[in-house]
Amino acid sequence: MAKSPLDLVLNIADLRAQARSRLPKGVFEFIERGSEDDVAVHNNRASFDAYRLRPTVLQDVSQRTLATQILGKASAMPLVMAPTGAAGIVWHDGEIAMAKAAAAANIPFTLSTASLTSIERIAAEAPGRLWFQLYMWPDRSMSHELVRRVQKAGFETLMVTVDTTVAPNRECNVRNGFMLPFRPNRRNFVDIAMHPRWLTSVIGRYLATTGMPRFENYPEALQQSLTAAPKGRSALPKTDSLTWEDLRMLRKIWHGPLIVKGILHPEDARAAVQNGADGIIVSNHGGRNLDYSIPPLFALPEIIDLVGARTQVLMDGGIMRGSDAIKALALGANAVLVGRAPLWGVAAAGQAGVQRALAILGEEMLRVLGQLGRSTVSELGPDALWTASQIKPLNTSKVPSLRAVS
Ligand SMILES: Cc1cc2nc3c(=O)[nH]c(=O)nc-3n(C[C@H](O)[C@H](O)[C@H](O)COP(=O)(O)O)c2cc1C
Repeated sequence: MAKSPLDLVLNIADLRAQARSRLPKGVFEFIERGSEDDVAVHNNRASFDAYRLRPTVLQDVSQRTLATQILGKASAMPLVMAPTGAAGIVWHDGEIAMAKAAAAANIPFTLSTASLTSIERIAAEAPGRLWFQLYMWPDRSMSHELVRRVQKAGFETLMVTVDTTVAPNRECNVRNGFMLPFRPNRRNFVDIAMHPRWLTSVIGRYLATTGMPRFENYPEALQQSLTAAPKGRSALPKTDSLTWEDLRMLRKIWHGPLIVKGILHPEDARAAVQNGADGIIVSNHGGRNLDYSIPPLFALPEIIDLVGARTQVLMDGGIMRGSDAIKALALGANAVLVGRAPLWGVAAAGQAGVQRALAILGEEMLRVLGQLGRSTVSELGPDALWTASQIKPLNTSKVPSLRAVS
């Protein structure tokens, strides 16, 4: 029997490798890379190396489970699918595939404002725990209208992203010719021509059915396809005049749990709670916005100290292994989000690929939990971690001097 490429996949890096061979370089790098010199992307990954795991032994872990509560509701594991407006360009109807895989794994899925699938389609075709990520337009009424649409469709949680008020400097997209609106040039034409499988199975299928994908959740007046010129200056959902007043306004409009994504400063965490947030996400947008921003894993402990007892603290950035997630949980996060990991899965093999990504992360987390001598994630704490700062200085006074020995 023919083997599926997924049979060869042991970890998220394997899914990434398969995604890389399927996707044009411009699309792959749009997902993989960050802004300017990619320092924040690399530091996010490196931050996990700073912590070593300290197991305890001879604990009965035969009944171990990842089951937990996220924002007061049961979840199979402390994992949430982060909003990424890219699944629809790596796989035909990729956002539906992501949402279905999240529902099958019994974890929340977050739909991005910048997604290519409508809120209503996701709610109809992939009912599960649905969260919506909101970007704000300068004309606030457009965003408030969208929030009402999300509410009407029955989404559970609203996540407002606050770290993208100024457009990031993603030079690699400019270099690769993968910007919006998409304009063919020699470079991206050659890149796409070398990936005919992607061209026919993703873009070709859209063109043969619903047409060039559009930002389905933008207000009708602003909806544009990936190749169309923007319909005016306010087409992009970004505003540099966002303030805490905007959060207070959203609190009035939105009736379910409200969480703020993109916090790195403890005082901002405190302000988010004071202004009505039910939770925060410690995040630097996967290193895609502000280069040199602090790795969220390093920002986490101070934030937990300040608001951890009062609110749900989630975290994302750089998670590629179950052990990464376990480290964040041990530092006090209630759950973690993953962005690129499921995107590599969907790019490699659609819904089955995302399911594989989530299964891998779950299996890895459960294994590490057991190896640490813990049965539930609530038993994790900082004592499960060790950092180089804990190396005891040498006590040189106890070392006999050479003279004394001789
Ligand atoms: C291709 C891509 C698109 C993204 N789009 C959004 C978005 O529309 N809204 C948002 O709040 N975050 C967005 N993010 C950031 C993710 O939600 C998340 O914070 C980040 O990917 C976590 O880091 P990780 O990819 O290392 O797991 C995006 C990330 C990627 C990789």
